[in-house]
Amino acid sequence: MINEIYNRTLNYLDNISKEERKEIGQFFTQPSIAIYMASLMTINKNSIRILDAGAGSGILTSALCQKCLKNNNIENIEVILYENNETVLPLLRESMELISTIMEEDNKNFRYQIVSKNFILDNESFWKGIKEKEEEELFDIVISNPPYKKIRKNDNEAIVMKDIVHGQPNIYFLFMAMSAKLLKANGEMIFINPRSFTSGAYFKEFRKWFLDNVKITDIHLFNNRGNVFKSDKILQETLILKAKKTDKEIKTINITTSPDDSFNNITKLTVCKNILIDKTTDDKYILIPTNQEELEVLNLFNSWNNNLESLGFKISTGKVVDFRATEFLTEKKNEYTVPLLWASNFNNNRIIHPIKREKTPQYILLNEKSKSLLIENKDYILIKRFTSKEEAKRVQCALYFTKQFNYNYIGVENHLNYIYKVNGDFSKEELYGLFTVLNSSFVDKYYRILNGSTQVNAGEMNAVPLPSLEKIINIGQIALNQSNITVEFCDKIIEDFFINQNKYFKSVI
Ligand SMILES: C[S@@+](CC[C@H](N)C(=O)[O-])C[C@H]1O[C@@H](n2cnc3c(N)ncnc32)[C@H](O)[C@@H]1O
Repeated sequence: MINEIYNRTLNYLDNISKEERKEIGQFFTQPSIAIYMASLMTINKNSIRILDAGAGSGILTSALCQKCLKNNNIENIEVILYENNETVLPLLRESMELISTIMEEDNKNFRYQIVSKNFILDNESFWKGIKEKEEEELFDIVISNPPYKKIRKNDNEAIVMKDIVHGQPNIYFLFMAMSAKLLKANGEMIFINPRSFTSGAYFKEFRKWFLDNVKITDIHLFNNRGNVFKSDKILQETLILKAKKTDKEIKTINITTSPDDSFNNITKLTVCKNILIDKTTDDKYILIPTNQEELEVLNLFNSWNNNLESLGFKISTGKVVDFRATEFLTEKKNEYTVPLLWASNFNNNRIIHPIKREKTPQYILLNEKSKSLLIENKDYILIKRFTSKEEAKRVQCALYFTKQFNYNYIGVENHLNYIYKVNGDFSKEELYGLFTVLNSSFVDKYYRILNGSTQVNAGEMNAVPLPSLEKIINIGQIALNQSNITVEFCDKIIEDFFINQNKYFKSVI
């Protein structure tokens, strides 16, 4: 039945513009993904109640029903489908009639109800605790490909769920939270949605609420982000997640990956639940290792108990946003200007300034108005915020030495982060030691496990566990004498200090 429903969906797609669907966050799930999602359901009882939140043409419900057909224990099935887009509703009704006929032919007792209302607003009083729900009104299983759409903080949905909104909300995570809330005890939710909620400051309150209310049991990642929702060219990294509402301890989590949505060549890793949540901050970042090597990287970092902040360092983002500061930017050096550093000033882990490059003025005026955008001229470790997908390393650092420039202040453009010592200045050993750790491919790998996007955020860099200051200084003493601190050199040091302990002096010097 799923193929029939998908074919009808393709006809519908021919008659409605992509812009119109984008406006309401409407993207349809491929049958192979829907079938995989349904395969994660482990509920096995005589009567089940299903919720399809943002049902579209009913593909996800059809996949679940197909699975129920193969299970003789499940006899009574009730499905509630929320869909508030008038245009797709006739198609959804058709799909549900088709499913209903097939289920009845197979002697299943099947009932469904389409609720053509806003899923979030319709459940407002339950979310707020104003109205309780009877057990029979809750769900054994929620399946959803929620709408992906940034909304404003003062949109009604965000106001209803304001306790989990922090910064700009996206409606998809409101769907996840509302669905978790609507689960019965031992109920399961199976979602396909962007990976972005696993890190990032905007999702912090949601992550805390979600992890307190349900337990993640399965995560599926696609290795090639362009291969999912390809007809809609969605490049957002997507994951499939299953979570359970249970008081029982869940010891392990299944992490699977596949190159694309054909689900051929699936790799599976079972990890201890303790490693899933970052422990260095209270931001509850979700770490997703996908192979043995990444698991070993996590184990290494889990043996370190510090982070930038606890070591007395701080990472901030460059304050000069070029298009907002145009009046201060200039190509020409004069007595009223100071250097402005851009990502393009990086050269072999050092800063070369000035350089000739279009649209990157190398100087910024120092005056009363611009001063708040500038920072003291101290030693810094600079980290690029954006790297292209093609670049081998996402965490790219450079050493900046105060003595390079005879100025009291410098400007750092907004595409860069800078790390400094909070009280006073880095000692040479601290500077070189910290740089060596951060420039290693180990930090790069850890960061990728922590954050699926190509952006390097200050908040998440702060969540990267680091060794003790003593070890950092020891590393710095060695790195100081190195003319070129290559990634290979940094990796060798990390391996010798922390993986093949005590072999350092035998192997490196
Ligand atoms: C990403 S599509 C997924 C459709 C379908 N479940 C699938 O997997 O193919 C999300 C659906 O949610 C609907 N939707 C968006 N906002 C909604 C809301 N607040 N309440 C109910 N449905 C909503 C959209 O019209 C769209 O059909």
